[in-house]
Amino acid sequence: MKDRFERELTYLRLSVVDRCNLRCLYCMPAEGAGFEAWENILSYEEMHRLVEIFSGLGISKVRITGGEPLVRRDIEVLISKIRSVPGIREIALSTNGVFLKEKARGLKDAGVDRVNISLDTLRRDRFFTIARMDRLGEVLRGIDAALAVGFSPVKINTVLMKGVNEDEILDLVRFGIERGIELRFIELMPTDESVEADPLKHFFSTQEAKKIVEQVYELKPADVYLSSPAQVFQIAGTQARVGFISPLSCFFCTRCNRLRLKASGMLKTCLHGREDLDLRAMLRSGFSESEIASAIQGVVYARPEQHFLNESAVAHADFQMSHVGG
Ligand code: GTP
Ligand code: 5AD
Ligand code: SF4
Repeated sequence: MKDRFERELTYLRLSVVDRCNLRCLYCMPAEGAGFEAWENILSYEEMHRLVEIFSGLGISKVRITGGEPLVRRDIEVLISKIRSVPGIREIALSTNGVFLKEKARGLKDAGVDRVNISLDTLRRDRFFTIARMDRLGEVLRGIDAALAVGFSPVKINTVLMKGVNEDEILDLVRFGIERGIELRFIELMPTDESVEADPLKHFFSTQEAKKIVEQVYELKPADVYLSSPAQVFQIAGTQARVGFISPLSCFFCTRCNRLRLKASGMLKTCLHGREDLDLRAMLRSGFSESEIASAIQGVVYARPEQHFLNESAVAHADFQMSHVGG
């Protein structure tokens, strides 16, 4: 399946739930979060049917996201169902890591190939400021568990925030080096006004972060898959890599291969675009698989060329990241 700019869509980010057990400053408001009623969240059967349709349209990689995907009960059941869909060659999962210690083994057995874990700080008090919960110890044990069960690669995602965690860049890189893993620094993206971390105040560019890392380490460009949002470097003399995700400069839009399905069944063809198609309504009002497939092809064909965020216009977007899964 291609869009009108000849971009091939092969990657589906499937948000399985809009709830989370943390409340990160850059993702959710301090109180309330506008969660969908449970009856409006797709069942595992519905998600499975849609993944079969997407697979028929050329999707080969599925990433399970949230909210926090591990708060949804029996997530392993959904993963096994997706694993059995012909054409799905890779299943990845993005998590905050809090439940990974208990869940890593079961996820691996159910068919998850690899995990990306959020870690914005190594300091307990700061973790509480950012995530508004005191769970750093669990996250660190979760990262160890992910490595112990053999997920490979394990990637760490760090959202950069000026005045909050930019002074930990080198500590986090060292954390990655000690474990021989990939750490990626992500620029803070604007989300809706209820979310506290305002990019106008807290934006810290990956360019600056890279300079800080390069003062201490030699970075050599590393291979990544063509549509990766990250620019990745091997840290010379180590097994570790460091990546930089710069959504605001938009350099990866031209080769963007991804679709996003919200837990409510809304399909988004661009993270910063609108909700393009209500797949829950189509499923629940009895549309056939071929009708659903044609509707998906239609909105995919028309998807926007790029987002229109840029540094001078970083104001607010109209969605919470927890509703979309990043
Ligand atoms: P890999 O498959 O390991 O490359 O993971 P990924 O980077 O696709 O997924 P992950 O969930 O780890 O996302 C990391 C960060 O990149 C998140 O903050 C995402 O919001 C951001 N990101 C991923 N894809 C896009 C995209 O298409 N557009 C924008 N603006 N940001 C993205
Ligand atoms: N800006 C940048 N990244 C964000 N994430 C969540 N909200 C934001 C934001 N406003 C990241 C999480 C996680 C990924 C799925 O999305 O930290 O790594
Ligand atoms: Fe939860 Fe991830 Fe959002 Fe933090 S960034 S509140 S861990 S969904």
